[in-house]
Amino acid sequence: MEVSAPVEFLTPLVVPNKLLLGPGPSNFPDRVREALSHPVLGHLHPETLKIMDDLKEGFKYLFQTTNPLTLCISASGHAGMETGLVNLLEKDDVILIAHSGIWGERAADMSKRIGGDVRLIKKPLGEQLSLLEARKHFELHKPKVFFITHGESSTGMLQNLDGFGELCHEYNCIFMVDAVITLGCVPFYADKWKIDVAYSGSQKVLNAPPGITPITFNSRAIDKITSRKTLVQSFNFDMHLLGEYWNCFPNKKRIYHHTVSPTLLYGLRESLAMFIEQGGLEASWKKHAMISQNLYKKLEANGLSLFIRNANERAPSITSVNVPANIDGTKVSSYIMQNYKVEISGGLGPTVGKIFRIGLMGTNARDEFVDKAINLLIEAIEAVKSQKL
Ligand code: GLV
Repeated sequence: MEVSAPVEFLTPLVVPNKLLLGPGPSNFPDRVREALSHPVLGHLHPETLKIMDDLKEGFKYLFQTTNPLTLCISASGHAGMETGLVNLLEKDDVILIAHSGIWGERAADMSKRIGGDVRLIKKPLGEQLSLLEARKHFELHKPKVFFITHGESSTGMLQNLDGFGELCHEYNCIFMVDAVITLGCVPFYADKWKIDVAYSGSQKVLNAPPGITPITFNSRAIDKITSRKTLVQSFNFDMHLLGEYWNCFPNKKRIYHHTVSPTLLYGLRESLAMFIEQGGLEASWKKHAMISQNLYKKLEANGLSLFIRNANERAPSITSVNVPANIDGTKVSSYIMQNYKVEISGGLGPTVGKIFRIGLMGTNARDEFVDKAINLLIEAIEAVKSQKL
């Protein structure tokens, strides 16, 4: 053999049990874990197709849409973003991107690769984009696509989406929303808010494995794809092909497009079943609001300050806490991980070193974890301050 077998594989797989109180993935409940261990089926077996059909209905409920073209992409949340952009944009199409953290930057990067003409509305970190300000940019740029992030995981900001759908209609523009950290934990109404394309994540509020991403396209978005002069550059993410695979078009037969992971479908279906059994959207919105309010109150009572000042502008799933002055935030996160196997993350992109991020999502949105996260943060900050590290 020119390349010998790596000896690492002769030792057992090691996967420690960690409490994931960061920005995601979040922990799976046992039921989801058990569902993941069902035997693998063929990707076109009737049982797998039935699970796909169930998931389509489940995500119509979660997105609050009647869009037939609602399905899951076989990849993580980034692929949801790329799927939206690669289908909607053709060369030189103007895309207007609200940028206040990391996701606008990623959307801009992807759009440029696709050949889009990117115009950014850059806001200070953690600051919402107002409708009035957006309108000025619509007037100036006349975009074909508008992209905005509902919950910015790098800052914990929740963007108010009221009126943006109407604005997009006025300018004949497609409205695309990243709902990765918000779907299921705060009200989200794709149809009522006139959102044309939205995607989310499986590994956040839903407590399912990463690697499978719900997405929805309405008829305006489908018309935009249908009127393309050029082929969608990506075979994998072509929504017409995916829609045929997921049997979303009543006048078309199901086709084989790619091999979806039946295992990931089991996990996601079980997580949706639990979500619905536990009272569905209203119950989840209420739970996340209560837990996050409790977290804010206790953080402040313990002398920790929140990065997003206005409580109405905070995503309940991920809370950002300012790193106290003269403290190395990475040492705090490492102390917590090393001593307790609990993840409390630092910032991401432009917020690295500035904040800690506490994620309390789905099954992890519990009062006991509010107390745990705060106690660990305080202990770790004291340890770093007194230079025990
Ligand atoms: C990923 O979504 C992150 O915010 O770290």
